[in-house]
Amino acid sequence: MQSPEERAGTIETLLHEERVYAPSPEFVAQANISDPDVYKRAEEDPEGFWRDKARLLEWFKEPSQVLQWDPPFAKWFADGELNACYNCVDRHQATRAQKPAIIWEGEPGDTRTLTYADLYREVNRASQMLKNLGVGRGDRVAIYMPMIPEVVVAMLACARIGAPHTVVFGGFSPEALRDRIIDAHTKLVITADGGYRRGSIVPLKANTDAALDAPDLPVEKVLVVRRVGQEAHGLTMQEGRDVWWHEEMARVAENAVVEAEHVDAEHPLFILYTSGTTGKPKGVLHTTGGYMVGTTLTTNWVFDLKEDDVYWCTADVGWVTGHSYLVYGPLSNGATAVMYEGTPDHPDKDRWWRIIEKYKVTILYTAPTAIRTFMRWGSEFPERWDLTSLRLLGTVGEPINPEAWIWYHRNIGAERCPVVDTWWQTETGAIMITPLPGIVPTKPGSATRAFPGISTRIVNEQGEPLEQGTMGGLLVITRPWPSMLRTIWGDDERYKQQYWGRFGEAHDVYFTGDGSHQDADGYFWLMGRVDDVLNVAGHRLGTMELESALVSHPSVAEAAVVGVSHEVKGQGVVAFITPRSGVQAGPALVEELRQHVSEKIGPIAKPDRIYFTAELPKTRSAKIMRRLLRDIAEGRVLGDTTTLADPSVMASIKQQYEETE
Ligand code: WTA
Repeated sequence: MQSPEERAGTIETLLHEERVYAPSPEFVAQANISDPDVYKRAEEDPEGFWRDKARLLEWFKEPSQVLQWDPPFAKWFADGELNACYNCVDRHQATRAQKPAIIWEGEPGDTRTLTYADLYREVNRASQMLKNLGVGRGDRVAIYMPMIPEVVVAMLACARIGAPHTVVFGGFSPEALRDRIIDAHTKLVITADGGYRRGSIVPLKANTDAALDAPDLPVEKVLVVRRVGQEAHGLTMQEGRDVWWHEEMARVAENAVVEAEHVDAEHPLFILYTSGTTGKPKGVLHTTGGYMVGTTLTTNWVFDLKEDDVYWCTADVGWVTGHSYLVYGPLSNGATAVMYEGTPDHPDKDRWWRIIEKYKVTILYTAPTAIRTFMRWGSEFPERWDLTSLRLLGTVGEPINPEAWIWYHRNIGAERCPVVDTWWQTETGAIMITPLPGIVPTKPGSATRAFPGISTRIVNEQGEPLEQGTMGGLLVITRPWPSMLRTIWGDDERYKQQYWGRFGEAHDVYFTGDGSHQDADGYFWLMGRVDDVLNVAGHRLGTMELESALVSHPSVAEAAVVGVSHEVKGQGVVAFITPRSGVQAGPALVEELRQHVSEKIGPIAKPDRIYFTAELPKTRSAKIMRRLLRDIAEGRVLGDTTTLADPSVMASIKQQYEETE
């Protein structure tokens, strides 16, 4: 969320970025896709392009339709029938049964490899287990788990029986879990007794108990994977509600087979909650056919995936990147995917590089915030290990500064590996703007161009297209695409207004919430959010969500939250608080409020800095002027204050801020 001045500043810097990296002849020669004509052909007939790409999947009933578009509601391949789990597991049995599907590196030193045959067996048994627990087609299941193979098995088993899953990031609080359980009306929660994090244990089952400690919740059963040991942390199992995964699995025959449900292409595959501009996170709904076409194709083309690649996406399954590029995309392609449970600095800051040498990882997909952290730690950590197996590097989640891009390219990729900077969102389901590594020359800091068949454009505030080379604009998508969200769960109206209502009554232009510009070569440069969404270390957080968490504390009368530039995390969170009268505002309260936000949302949401002020700057119509607070927090000259109800407020906040700096 940058101010216009900031954006202009960033654009200014990026415009001086003139380094261009063309794909090497060796890479082009072996690339899955190297004919630049693919863009032109897709553009001439987008629906024909997607019709053709639908053939990447195995359908129980081939679709005869491609797109039905009743703006802003889309159906893709509507009369087709398929199953996502079947595409990720069953169809590989004939050709890849003994190939590793998941290579798991766990904490503390655990490892496990599941071949496609193992995955088939586990997923079938888990599907039977879910059925035994009363879960069927259409029922929603919450998954609140650490990064262990069972989480993938659980997701695929849900897909197999047609039960949409909603994965809740294991770092979220009990309250965040409860909100999602209520909104998605989930019948079952799958969790674990705990998860490891930097040598300590996250009490997932205790958190689940706390989440469920409320009246009238829809949850009937809680299924618990034993991960850290039953005895740890006074874990209790509630009679009649809680059951152990290993005990329930033991009831199912080793060779049990549950036929994959034949679902319609538009059958819900999952709901994933993400932060928006309002208080509560919203449930983004993805359906089966279009999502699988989008993720399967992009995984293959963007990562240039080959049969013998060892592919590692470092994202947690709790985020969309984990859904699309750790689970569905790679497995649908029959890839070998590495999955890592821990953090990059445990036990030492070279852990990732060790993993790359150990498993001979060929493709690495991670976030700029991780790259910036590694830069800070220094190149001696990657230098300790042999990284020559790598052949392609990817980034996602936030804008990457050219300096970090170059560091990644040099120190990790030895200038040999193409870097694909991929722009997309929870809502888009799959990658939208990215280089195709065998075709598109890259420029550090630019996500380059729209994926074939995708139409992105830069417009001004009125929705009018801007010429290439014009500074600063808004990124929109001008036609539907297969992996797009279908709605916000239970709230069609919000879906319509929020994403498609910004430019006119036709509701046919999708507003991304991102600022961007296109250079003279047509390359897209992403500039960060222009709405009230923050991106902290690649995690989406809403300012309203943070503010509601803060004002729910008894000492807080009012709160305003802004994002500020942060060297490593991209953005940091700064909160301005008006305490209730009589409250002692000091360091103890700062700590208490940080803790409070952590309990309400999760540790990732803790404000970096908190300031107290007698009043917040407001317009005469009582709107908080966050722009001015951002100016203060970034140490800039104050912008226009003439619309303030009481201009003197700013001076006192500024003074306070400077004193505490
Ligand atoms: C940002 C993550 C610049 C953007 C897949 C978007 C990026 C939000 C990039 C979505 C990128 C993602 N360059 N910005 N390559 N990728 N973003 O839903 O602001 O967690 O709107 O999806 O992340 O975040 P989300």
